[in-house]
Amino acid sequence: MVHSIDSTRIPGRRLLHSPGPTPLPEAVLDALRRQPMDLGDPRVDANIAACERGIRRLLKADAANVYFYATNGHGAWEAVVENLVPPGGSVLIPGTGHFSESWAVQTEALGRAVVRTPWREGWPIDVDAVVQALREDREQRIVAVCTVHTDTSSSVSTDLGRLRAAIDATGHPALFVVDAVASLGAAPIDMPALRANVVLSASQRP
Ligand SMILES: Cc1ncc(COP(=O)(O)O)c(C=O)c1O
Repeated sequence: MVHSIDSTRIPGRRLLHSPGPTPLPEAVLDALRRQPMDLGDPRVDANIAACERGIRRLLKADAANVYFYATNGHGAWEAVVENLVPPGGSVLIPGTGHFSESWAVQTEALGRAVVRTPWREGWPIDVDAVVQALREDREQRIVAVCTVHTDTSSSVSTDLGRLRAAIDATGHPALFVVDAVASLGAAPIDMPALRANVVLSASQRP
């Protein structure tokens, strides 16, 4: 049967150009169809080692520890908070938009206090507001600055180098955590130059 071609019936594979989930290349789809390897198969270790090398290369971080989690972006957020911030501790989540707010809500649900900075849709992080929040934290309760690099809802990125320099200028010892869910592999991230303590991402976006 032959269909006429109109805007609702486009032949071939559709490519959705959005921040994610991205269309899977054929080679990846083919690999997913293969029989899984036995856990004791030495090729499993070799595969994991290759993935770790690839992640380190993307982040220019030869010495970084790489942890793979079978989870989504929310799971990576949770892992960071649970591992870095003691119960009742505080984090600063600079405002970027929908995703900084979602991370803040989840962090509060995990029993941590969140200091937010204001955000404006379509604008990067207000670095001056971050500086002010860190300076006001005289008792240095803030354990980490949890930063969304690119907020997928607006696709706006923040200059992480500028933010790092601003944090340094305050002398605050907070850890620097970067959410690269929408940016890893799409925008350069030099983890050692940024002295980022943690960079997290999720494979469904980049
Ligand atoms: C920048 C960013 N961070 C975190 C998340 C959360 O990821 P997930 O939806 O996989 O839980 C998303 C999801 O789109 C995101 O775009």
